Amino acid sequence: MVAPVIQSAFEKKRSHIGELYQQVRARTLEIVAPLEIEDYVIQTAEFMSPPRWHIGHTSWFFETVLQKFRPGYQIYREDFLFFFNSYYEGFGPRIERPKRGTRSRPTVAETKRYRAHIDEQMMRLIEAASSRDDAGEIFSIVRLGLEHEMQHQELLVYDIKHLLCDQFDAPMKPAPRSLEDVSGMVEIEGGLFELGYDAGTDAGESRHVGTGMRALQGALPFAWDNEKPAHKVYLEDFAIDRPPVSVGDYVEVINDGGYENFRWWHSAGWEKVNTEHWQAPLYWEQRDGEWMIRDFAGLHRAGDRAYEPVAHVSFLEASAYAKWTGKRLPTEAEWEKAATLTRALDSKQGFPWGDDEPDLAKANLFENGLWNVAPIGSFPAGQTVQGCQQLIGDVWEWTTSDYVPYPGFKSEFDEYNDKWFIGQKVLRGGSYATPQIHIRSTYRNFFYPHERWMIAGFRCAK
Ligand SMILES: [Fe+2]
Repeated sequence: MVAPVIQSAFEKKRSHIGELYQQVRARTLEIVAPLEIEDYVIQTAEFMSPPRWHIGHTSWFFETVLQKFRPGYQIYREDFLFFFNSYYEGFGPRIERPKRGTRSRPTVAETKRYRAHIDEQMMRLIEAASSRDDAGEIFSIVRLGLEHEMQHQELLVYDIKHLLCDQFDAPMKPAPRSLEDVSGMVEIEGGLFELGYDAGTDAGESRHVGTGMRALQGALPFAWDNEKPAHKVYLEDFAIDRPPVSVGDYVEVINDGGYENFRWWHSAGWEKVNTEHWQAPLYWEQRDGEWMIRDFAGLHRAGDRAYEPVAHVSFLEASAYAKWTGKRLPTEAEWEKAATLTRALDSKQGFPWGDDEPDLAKANLFENGLWNVAPIGSFPAGQTVQGCQQLIGDVWEWTTSDYVPYPGFKSEFDEYNDKWFIGQKVLRGGSYATPQIHIRSTYRNFFYPHERWMIAGFRCAK
């Protein structure tokens, strides 16, 4: 039994968690709704997963919660544990990632029934949780499971793009227009900087966050273990680009023979250029000597997209571009400082524009419904005090920082973030496929330096 005061706090949390659970789970199904049944099971590359797998895997994740917290819970189907586990050694054997698209069973209908079953069981667990001694633990793991699901929503966008691209009937809203020219760099003074998520700001409930899902974010603050603890780092003075690198900028390095000259590339990059025959970012193709970009809306002349952030570049390509321009990529601490400086330039705020959560006017995130990058200068309301734009949303931005634990790191969930602390690079800021409530300025995404099917771009520093 728990004391009545604590129970009423848990009651409030229970209703918030239950509401968030339903909204997040429903959105996953909204994303896949335009797919035809055949689309769900095809794997177009080793690095992507078929949509059917994401639908099942995100439910499998919650089934592990049910196994732990519902005494007597009966496994839905043993073979699903094998098929829908991703990479967790602790949860037993699993199908290899490149083979996720080699089976037609479980069918899509079976997978959706599994999903509905897990939802029903999870809602019962959440409903009954507030009177339990372990209510806090249950709410934390459900909250984490919902962030996990949002990561898979974003992966679904990458994977559906790889699978279908412009054949997918994405519910796209019209693109915004650029409202101002954004160019040049801002100078930022160095010194001690507090890098990472300060758990002390979790007080939460009174944050100004608007309505709907964003209000729930205020009531249920969350950060990954890899963003913590906040700690001091020393930065030299630096300058960082106001806009992300654009398609027009990037075409220049291609036209200058950038992909043919080893001097701009890391050794690993030059090897990729030669073995994979890279000549341009992923989804670029040449027609009659002209570069074209394919996206969810169709095939467009790169020249017509010159003022949009370049996307689908690897770290290796971003680094080569930076070297070609005589600049470099920022470190993650530089990026975070640029994104969080307050007006007085002496302390840190939650986002480039202040402490309010992202909204449609401030950043191009999933809710904007563009299914694409927005022209540079479309979101002046989201700029930093010094005029950096589109740090949040549009494209994840490569940094030169290795994905390693912060000093004092404590794992909050085995095999989630901790086992990936080797060989990957940190990206910051979220993309047009990132849900609003999922992103923070302290969020550390990570991918291998050669990967480019995710929505990644960059800006330079010096
Ligand atoms: Fe996962």
